[in-house]
Amino acid sequence: MKDIDPRDLSADDWDELNFPRPKVQGFDAVVERAISRRGFLGGALAFGSGAAVMGTALLKGSTAMAEQSNRFAFEQLAPQTDGTVHVPQGYSWNTLVRWGDPLFSDAPAFDAKAGIPVAGSDRVFGENTDGMELFNVGGKEILVVNSEYANTKTNLPHTEDGSPQSADDVAILQNFQGVSVMELEEGAEGWAVVVDSPLNRRITHNTPMQIDGPAAGHDLLKTAGDATGMTSMGTFNNCGSGRTPWGTYLTCEENFNGYFGATGEMPTQEATAAGYARYGIKGDNDRYNYHLFDARFDVTQNPNEPHCAGYIVEIDPADPEKTPVKHTALGRFKHENAAYALAPDGRVAIYMGDDERGEFMYKWLSRDVYTPGGDTSTLMSEGLLYVAKFNDDMTGEWLALTPETTGMDAAMISIFTRMAGSAVGATTMDRPEWIAVNPTAVEAYCCLTNNSRRGAKEEDGSIKTNAGGDVMDVNAVNPRETNEYGQIVRWRPHGDDHAADTFDWDLYVMAGNPEVHKDGMYAGTSNINAGNLFNSPDGMQIDTTGLIWIQTDGDDSNEGEFAGMGNNQMLAGDPATGEIRRFLTGPNGSEVTGLTWSTDRRTMFVGIQHPGAPFPDGPDSLPRSSIVAVKRDDNALIG
Ligand code: FEO
Ligand code: CA
Ligand code: CA
Ligand code: CA
Repeated sequence: MKDIDPRDLSADDWDELNFPRPKVQGFDAVVERAISRRGFLGGALAFGSGAAVMGTALLKGSTAMAEQSNRFAFEQLAPQTDGTVHVPQGYSWNTLVRWGDPLFSDAPAFDAKAGIPVAGSDRVFGENTDGMELFNVGGKEILVVNSEYANTKTNLPHTEDGSPQSADDVAILQNFQGVSVMELEEGAEGWAVVVDSPLNRRITHNTPMQIDGPAAGHDLLKTAGDATGMTSMGTFNNCGSGRTPWGTYLTCEENFNGYFGATGEMPTQEATAAGYARYGIKGDNDRYNYHLFDARFDVTQNPNEPHCAGYIVEIDPADPEKTPVKHTALGRFKHENAAYALAPDGRVAIYMGDDERGEFMYKWLSRDVYTPGGDTSTLMSEGLLYVAKFNDDMTGEWLALTPETTGMDAAMISIFTRMAGSAVGATTMDRPEWIAVNPTAVEAYCCLTNNSRRGAKEEDGSIKTNAGGDVMDVNAVNPRETNEYGQIVRWRPHGDDHAADTFDWDLYVMAGNPEVHKDGMYAGTSNINAGNLFNSPDGMQIDTTGLIWIQTDGDDSNEGEFAGMGNNQMLAGDPATGEIRRFLTGPNGSEVTGLTWSTDRRTMFVGIQHPGAPFPDGPDSLPRSSIVAVKRDDNALIG
């Protein structure tokens, strides 16, 4: 940690740095291992429709897939390495909103040099845009957007190194994160935020939250702020998004551990200490240094505060007065996003990933059924949480997390969900990022972004494990050692029923580089070719026509293993043929994350997080995370 300033890192990169990468294994060994598994993959991936393209011979990464499909209303964009956004011919983009833009007319003016003062810092669009969803509320277009983390050096320009010097400095950082709710309007000049709309709202690290589900009121959630354990303050590291069939927004708390530190002793209570170890809560954490000025984040004084973070949080975009609800029944982990599917009987399934190397995928299943206009109050509190086991024979199971299966009571399963997953033998995954449900078929997809530790060995020769001791050996669904490129797994529940506890799966794509690796698994699957190279799939949404929109958060050096990939990007995939085409590229240094559509489906909103170039305002401007609006020049439907 010493020669890299943690404040210069994105939230995911910071988390990676907490556990040093292993030495990359010899290239030959990687290829040898890959080839030895090809026979298995060849048979195993012959699944479902034409996208089971990934037969043995196709592992080489041919261009056979190119130009097969007419699903795409655009010609593939070439990779780009410059400092702006590109879209295909026939499409245009405009900036909708930049971090620091006002949601209310009393917000302070954005000042790139002096920063934004603490007064009013919760009246602007938050920093580091991530997951987002659009809702139509009484005819108004309401965009709800996560702000995942803060660039402390940019936000606190009066400090030497971005480390807060006062409680006000901490409050500035806390106010730039969380969630922004804002009304949008499309006029002659394009889309814009409706400043002062009564539905505009900021939710920050200090907004009161309700807690429901099995952990509500548990001793481990009782804090100085609320001795009943029924409420807490703030939502943290809001990464991916989700929505419910009843029109609410789900924000997903990911790397919440990064906000806590200790001014003195670490807690010794057994469950607390074990949880800290599993979730990465450390005393000597100087990423934000909240704990130096805000006792809530000092685990020496407030050991239960971290137990109030790491949840799925429900926000009502139609009611700015409504307290957001933390649904502990959906588990506590580093939540990436939340993707719902309705079972044929109306029960609500919500798929979720825990984005850390070797952690798990989960499914929530409600006890009660959803009926439009009916009571929804139990749908995220009464039900059962499951964790995924992927078998090497291309089947899988959702393993129920119950007191009987885990040896933990319901509250402890909700608070220490990772341990519950370990107890039942869940499959360690290559960092589950976004999950997307296909609205045109009974199937879902998860981006497994990469895993530098997959199959890597400790000095004693043993295979590395996750923080719970679960071994990260290669397996069929995570088939590559030191996986730098990532893959997307797809599953189809048995009986065409998302409530089923068994499924079949395949890999929709393994990203790779057939230009660098002529053969073997690092070439990627056959739907990867010289034209559509990418790495580290992360954000994902499937549109109403069934096209899969894949966003990347990977290495954009465009060199070596990553040559030909260019900047981070958004691609579209055809689920039937497997064909994937690049649609949009972000500025260098940025991650493309967050995607939603206007109600009329004529505009696509795309998030550009942490640009490294002066985007979107050009030379000599401060790079600012922004949302762009993408349209077809003929104003036709775009998903
Ligand atoms: Fe915040 Fe795992 O991405
Ligand atoms: Ca990010
Ligand atoms: Ca992500
Ligand atoms: Ca990521």
